[in-house]
Order: sequence, then structure tokens, then C-alpha cells
Amino acid sequence: MTAAAAKTALATPTAGAVPLRTAPLQTLRFRLILSVALVHVVLMGIFAAAAVREQADRIEQELLNRGHALISMTAVASTNALLTEDLGALAEIIQKVERQPDVAFCEISDSRGYILGTTTPDRLGKRRPPRVSHSDRFPLASGDPTLDLREDIRIAGQVVGTVTLGLSTYRMDSAMHKTWRDGIFFILLALVVGSFAAWALSLATTRKLRGMVEATAKIGKGDLDVQLPITSRDEIGMLAIAFNNMVASLRHASEEALREHRQRTQAERLACVGEMSASIAHEIRNPLSAVINSVNLLSGDALHGDERSQVISILNSESHRLNRILSDFLDFAKIRESQPARGNLAALIEEVAGMLRQDLPQEKNIRVAVACPPGARLAVFDHDHMRQVVWNLVLNAVQAMGDGGLLSLRTARRGDKIVVTVADTGCGIKPDFIKEMTKPFVTGRRDGTGLGLAIVQRILIQHRSQLSVSSELGIGSEISFELDSGG
Ligand SMILES: Nc1ncnc2c1ncn2[C@@H]1O[C@H](COP(=O)(O)OP(=O)(O)OP(=O)(O)O)[C@@H](O)[C@H]1O
Ligand SMILES: [Mg+2]
Repeated sequence: MTAAAAKTALATPTAGAVPLRTAPLQTLRFRLILSVALVHVVLMGIFAAAAVREQADRIEQELLNRGHALISMTAVASTNALLTEDLGALAEIIQKVERQPDVAFCEISDSRGYILGTTTPDRLGKRRPPRVSHSDRFPLASGDPTLDLREDIRIAGQVVGTVTLGLSTYRMDSAMHKTWRDGIFFILLALVVGSFAAWALSLATTRKLRGMVEATAKIGKGDLDVQLPITSRDEIGMLAIAFNNMVASLRHASEEALREHRQRTQAERLACVGEMSASIAHEIRNPLSAVINSVNLLSGDALHGDERSQVISILNSESHRLNRILSDFLDFAKIRESQPARGNLAALIEEVAGMLRQDLPQEKNIRVAVACPPGARLAVFDHDHMRQVVWNLVLNAVQAMGDGGLLSLRTARRGDKIVVTVADTGCGIKPDFIKEMTKPFVTGRRDGTGLGLAIVQRILIQHRSQLSVSSELGIGSEISFELDSGG
């Protein structure tokens, strides 16, 4: 078919539903747990950092106070020993200071800077360095493990000696590490407890939401009797109440729509009966007049020989035509409900093609080709009804081709559907006739009753399908429809 070809779908297709599935990392539960965990980590981190800082300040201050007290006491205790240069007494004082916690070293030097008492014996008698360290307050210089304090010993404003004291920060550092460890432990504990609490909370909430999703899915399938239990007075409870109210309104609207639909259908049916009766009356009027005329002519003595045989032949053919119109109409009127089941569509198409090949008169040069590829052989259909559908379509195609051409019957897979196509190289169909031709008694042929496509249409509606027509005048037509593949 070219782009100019007329293509018309004879009914509106139904839209596909989106499956109800959540991505694991996008669930409400996951997000809730993640946010609670993050908030916990950040808050506990800030809290732990503040606690460690406070603890550090306290320990530092305590060490500093202790250092100042100790150095002052040492200075007072060593004044006399310094004046008398009593090295034994100074050694005793040094030993006492050394026994104090955190003392790393202690030195007592005279006014000239010579060390007279020290915790490091090989420095005895040597000059003390001008300044051991500058770490006499916190924070200590980096890499310095001791807090170094120095105090001059004075008598009447005169410097008679100096005490230098080094306090180790080892105990303080370990205490701070312990505080950090405790902090991290509490952060992890809070993380676990918080995540568990968030999980439990989200479980309760998402369970209710899941109930709503399931209820909504049921509504989508047409069940309007769903009701959600009201188990709480929170926002979810309010949502459930609003949901139930909405379902009640929907139910009411649907009952109204059904009532209106029934009334409309009844009215349409009556209109249809009227239209059909008019069509039947119109269809049978011509052959009936011919029958009446023929009977009148035959009942007199006016006709003899060939004339009489000719009128009898007209009478015969017109009564047959009448009979065909009525039996086609009966077929149309009494189409039963389709009972679709999964079956071998390819076999059915082959069967129809076989019947057609047998029926085709020798003089007609029509080739019948069938193509049903694997994967497009099974479908869901009512066997007898579908044979009627395909048969009507191929008959129309053959009638459109006249003396010769190619008739092809194809199936193809399109997603979860099987597309059946009957294509011919016949006369084609006028674009504005395409929408009309499925109506009962609409025919483009002199001897047609116009019920073939009306029957096809009714059967396809029962299969939730529709005809799609693509045609080009003088080139040919393609008529197709879809069936569920059923797997
Ligand atoms: N493949 C086709 N090519 C050309 N015209 C077609 C084709 N199929 C249908 N038509 C047109 O649509 C009309 C209606 O077809 P339909 O089968 O309903 O009735 P019919 O064939 O005229 O009579 P019958 O009741 O015997 O089938 C046909 O008369 C014909 O004009
Ligand atoms: Mg037909």
C-alpha cells in the first residue's frame, strides 16, 4: 500500500495498563529509613563531637591546674635547699614530684642555670637549656607529647632558681580517645535503633498504603465493592475515609451510568430494529415484486414456450435471492456469544484457504498464499466464529479480484497480540465507503446482501477486536484485526 492508501480503524483501541510495581530503592520504606538514619548520624555526630570537645577542655584545664599547683609547690619546697645548695634535699623533692601522676620530667636549676636536681640523672650539673619547649598551654605544639611549665623561685624579688616541669598528655589523650570511641559506639547504636524504629514505623504505614494500592487495583478491574478498614485517626486514616467516600461516589456514578446505558441501549435497539426492518423490507421488495409479477404472468394463459420458461427462471432466481437474504439475516440476528479459547489459528487459516482453493472455479486465476510464521500460530479465539470471520473476508477479497490476482492470508506477532491480515489485489475500496461497509445491508455488489462484514464486526467485538482497513483503488486492499496471543 502507498502513503495515499486509505487506512481506517473501525473502532477505538483500548489503552494498556501500567503494571503496579515499585523500584526497590525508591520505596517509601527505604526513603524513610534512609532519612531517619541520616538524621541520626548527623545529630549524633554533632552531639558526640561536642561531648568530646567538652571532655577535652575539662581534662586540659584539670592538667593545667594540677601542673601549676605542682610547680608552685615544688618551687616553695625547694627554696631552702637551693639557698643551701643541699643536693640531697633537692633529689628528695624531685623524687616526690616524679611520683605524681602524669609527671614526665622535672628539673630544678640555680640562678645561673645549672641543674641541681633532675628526674634525668645524666643532666645533673649541666646548664638548663634556655627553654625546653613552648607548649605551656593548650593546644600543644604539634608533635609535642608534654605540657612544659616553668616557674622562677624568687626571694625578695631576686631570682634564686627555676623549676621546670613536664606533664605527659598520654592519659589525657587516652581519655579523649575513649570518649571518641564511646561517641562512635553511640552513633552506631543510635543508627541501628533509629533505623529499626523507622523500619517498624514505615512497615505500619506502607502496609496501609499497600492495602490502598491493592484496593485501587481492584477498582481498576471493576470491583466497586472494595472498602478500606479505618484503623487510625491520623492522615492515613483520613486518606482511607476519603478513599471509601470516593469509591462510594464511583459506585453511585457507575450505577447511574449503567442505568443510562441500559436505557440508551434499549432505545438504540428499538431504533436498530426499526432501521433493520426498513432495510429488510427494502431488500426484499424488489425480488418480491419480481415474484408477484412472475406469478401473475404465469397464472394467465398469455405466456408460452420460451417466454414461460424465462419467467419461471426469474421466479426461481428471485425466490432463491429472497431465501438467501432471509437466511443471511437470520445468521446475523442469531449470532451466539463467542467462547474464545487458545487454539491453533494457523490451522484454521490453512483450513479456510483449503476450502477456498476447492471452491474457486477453474477459470479464475486466483492464487492463494498463506504465511503463518512460528510465534504467530496460536491465539485466543472462538473457532467457529473465527472461521466465519476469515471466510467472509476471503470471499469479499475473491469477489473484489474478479478473474485473477493474489490473495494472501498472513499472521504476525505484535507484542502480546497476533495480527491476522487478508490482503488482495482487487479493485480496492473508496475511502468514504470504508466506514460504511460494516453496517448491515450496506453492499457495493449487485448481488450482495451487505451482511458479511456486519457479522465479522459483531464477532470481532466479542473478541475485543476491530477491523483495520487499508486500501487503494485499483491496487487492492488489506483488511486486518488483532487477537490475544494468550501467551
Ligand atoms: N476486499 C474488498 N475489496 C473491495 N471491496 C470490498 C472488500 N471487502 C468488502 N468490500 C466492499 O464492502 C461491501 C460490504 O461487504 P459485505 O461482506 O458486508 O457484504 P457483501 O459482500 O456485499 O454481501 P454478503 O452479505 O454476501 O457478504 C462489499 O459489497 C464490497 O463493496
Ligand atoms: Mg461479503
